[in-house]
Amino acid sequence: MDGVLKHVGIIVDGNGRWAKSQGKSRSEGHLAGSNNLEKLIIHISNTDLKYLSLYVFSNENFKRDIKEVSYLMNLFVKMFKHVSKKYKDYNIKIIFSGRRDKLPINVLKEMDKLTRETKDNTGLVVNFCLNYSSHLEIIDAIKKIQKDNLKIEELNEDIMNKYLYQDLPPIDLLIRTSGEQRLSNFMLWQLYYAELFFTKTYFPDFTEKEYDSIIEDFYKRNRRFGGV
Ligand code: IPE
Ligand code: IPE
Ligand code: MG
Repeated sequence: MDGVLKHVGIIVDGNGRWAKSQGKSRSEGHLAGSNNLEKLIIHISNTDLKYLSLYVFSNENFKRDIKEVSYLMNLFVKMFKHVSKKYKDYNIKIIFSGRRDKLPINVLKEMDKLTRETKDNTGLVVNFCLNYSSHLEIIDAIKKIQKDNLKIEELNEDIMNKYLYQDLPPIDLLIRTSGEQRLSNFMLWQLYYAELFFTKTYFPDFTEKEYDSIIEDFYKRNRRFGGV
């Protein structure tokens, strides 16, 4: 493994607190976050990063008020419809991680459409983690391994990786906005040697400039992977 930055993960957090600080509703916070995310993805697609994993809705987020959950689900539909043409122009490939159960049919339809439409793109791969839980991902992988009658003695890291929702390289850098310093069940396997970066900025205010400065900071860090 080298020091090159291939895969960035972002925990998109702080939409609700951003809204509160502006005297706005949580929905307005999510809308501002979603608009900002669209912009940020385009910016990142113009860099030489290969993989971007975005935590946009956790399995646990279904605990929220039904009104907030349905607002978010409709926002995903709108966003996926809106970006579909743009992503083709920017050569962005979209994939998804998470369980399909509990997601409304219209969301699943747009997810499948976007996946299909961008599957041959060769630029940035954007992995939307939607209805995602890292614990459930590991449990689902073990269930698939058993179904395939794979011999447990043959299991290694590469094979395990192939049984996860997506076969991705490890995350090199994790960014979480909003000041929280926790992982909240995000890609625990893939984050095993990630550099962690926490910023106090609420996601709707997180700019391309701040992203670029975090990338600069990443290159100043000394990654050792257990060596000296
Ligand atoms: C992130 O913003 C978006 C989702 C989790 C869907 P939050 O909604 O968690 O915002 P805060 O943490 O309440 O500020
Ligand atoms: C994590 O954020 C999930 C996403 C950003 C999609 P939360 O806002 O749900 O996390 P906690 O509850 O503060 O840990
Ligand atoms: Mg939050």
